[in-house]
Amino acid sequence: MEIKSTEFIASHPNTASCPKDERFEFAFIGRSNVGKSSLINMLTGKKGLAKVSQTPGKTQLINFFMINHFWFLVDLPGYGYAKVSKTQQKFLSRLLKDYFSNRIQLTHAFVLIDSTINPPSKVDMAFLESLGHLAVPFTLVFTKSDKIGKVTLDKNVDAFMTEMSKDWETLPQFFISSSEYRTGREEILDFIGQFTSQ
Ligand code: GTP
Ligand code: MG
Repeated sequence: MEIKSTEFIASHPNTASCPKDERFEFAFIGRSNVGKSSLINMLTGKKGLAKVSQTPGKTQLINFFMINHFWFLVDLPGYGYAKVSKTQQKFLSRLLKDYFSNRIQLTHAFVLIDSTINPPSKVDMAFLESLGHLAVPFTLVFTKSDKIGKVTLDKNVDAFMTEMSKDWETLPQFFISSSEYRTGREEILDFIGQFTSQ
């Protein structure tokens, strides 16, 4: 799929205020600082579209982008960031639970996993389990692959999938990405294109 146009629509503090349109919707979610906003900028080819920050917790609302005047791309706040206040943590975890429980327009979620981390994070495993309970269809994206060599990358991905296989009967599809080198861009966009037929 080619991205011909990208438009920021709005940021929402809760699911009730999100657009009512029945469009295909693809959400990007993962631990804080995993590279969600960077990946969105890389996919859309627009550098400053989603705010990237070295300080985790930058994205705090549900951000809607309209792609090709046809489907929504959603940038969600990260989970598992311990350094924000308890009130803020509660707000964010409620926001995510609300979105994944109630957003019927959600077509597919991309759960981003930091490929440099091994052993696999318990926070990621718990989040995936909660998505499973809500029957949300998802694909994994192992981010920041440029930061490690191929051998380590394979080892880390393998460790993650092995950990997942303890709880899951079938393992999800996954992509490898680097926002630096645009790795995974075509694969992810083609995957989305299978739904949108674009
Ligand atoms: P929050 O919105 O704060 O939860 O973070 P986020 O998941 O949106 O992460 P963001 O895209 O803001 O990136 C966090 C940091 O990781 C930034 O310093 C990015 O430059 C860096 N980063 C993101 N993706 C990559 C990547 O593919 N490779 C490398 N080397 N760095 C990356
Ligand atoms: Mg972000």
